[in-house]
Amino acid sequence: MTSVAPRVESLASSGIQSIPKEYIRPQEELTSIGNVFEEVQKEEGPQVPTIDLKEIESEDKEVRERCRLELKKAAMDWGVMHLVNHGISEELMDRVREVGQKFFQLPIEEKEKYANDQGSGMIQGYGSKLANNASGQLEWEDYFFHLVYPEDKRDLSIWPKTPTDYTEITSAYARQLRGLASKILSALSLCLGLEQGRLEKEVGGLEQLLLQMKINYYPKCPQPELALGVEAHTDVSALTFILHNMVPGLQLFYQGKWVTAKCVPNSIIMHIGDTIEILSNGKFKSILHRGLVNKEKVRISWAVFCEPPKDKIILKPLPETVSETEPPLFPPRTFAQHIEHKLFRKTQDALSK
Ligand code: OGA
Ligand code: NI
Repeated sequence: MTSVAPRVESLASSGIQSIPKEYIRPQEELTSIGNVFEEVQKEEGPQVPTIDLKEIESEDKEVRERCRLELKKAAMDWGVMHLVNHGISEELMDRVREVGQKFFQLPIEEKEKYANDQGSGMIQGYGSKLANNASGQLEWEDYFFHLVYPEDKRDLSIWPKTPTDYTEITSAYARQLRGLASKILSALSLCLGLEQGRLEKEVGGLEQLLLQMKINYYPKCPQPELALGVEAHTDVSALTFILHNMVPGLQLFYQGKWVTAKCVPNSIIMHIGDTIEILSNGKFKSILHRGLVNKEKVRISWAVFCEPPKDKIILKPLPETVSETEPPLFPPRTFAQHIEHKLFRKTQDALSK
């Protein structure tokens, strides 16, 4: 046995009517967890913006700049958006969903052969969250986590062998996403008045920017109003790209309220992560978000985190984003130190409750 972590999938299929206490959110959080389907039916209120990338590389300078301005507004205001006309084919996205879903349809014993071992630092593979504080709080999801780009840094030996086309499809998607990431980084650089290749270089470029895919598998939950699939967090990445199976659940904390993201066909959700927030000195936002679960449908999402190398780069506001009236909002830290700092703060917060 490589892991003793309980799988949420086995809990969910055991027929329990009430969830174990480890999955129940603290009292102060419960009041904000509504039913996702009730939430989604309300049409009023702010919505995650949709950005059409069709014109982002137009020959026409004015057309190009108009498109870029929309992206800039969304990045500054929400820090998250639905990307449409992003250039990745519907067919490829469907196949990514298909191969991931097929892997999760395997019996748990089959998936356990791919179990990660967080204790010994083997974070890639099939896993579930381990309780990391005194409260023992857990999340209603299992996942599969693996590095998908650059190709020479992949460990294909731990990738799902079933279905047989998993590697081919997922690799093709990663390659396409890497191209999209470059396009976005280039546009965001221009939005900040920087040279077009600047942000790409600042996050490590083609060689060092790591694309890590996390397939989030959220089983049906008998008491969805008491649990979370993913607890509230901001992504530490530079950018995150998310594909999902069209079941709602992602919520964004916008202007003091939790907003449920609508499902936009053929879109890819993109988050600005902490790394770009830091480099832009807070001009682009890394928004707080979380994932709800539900009784009726399994929800699956494919998040790809584009991350700078852990220790090689010191992240801090770029000099061009700092002025006398806009002092640096973030101290210099490596990516690893940034993660460490967040963890430390979270622990302190928990202790002071
Ligand atoms: C994440 C995340 C949300 C989702 O994996 O970081 O925020 O929609 N996932 O699954
Ligand atoms: Ni996230």
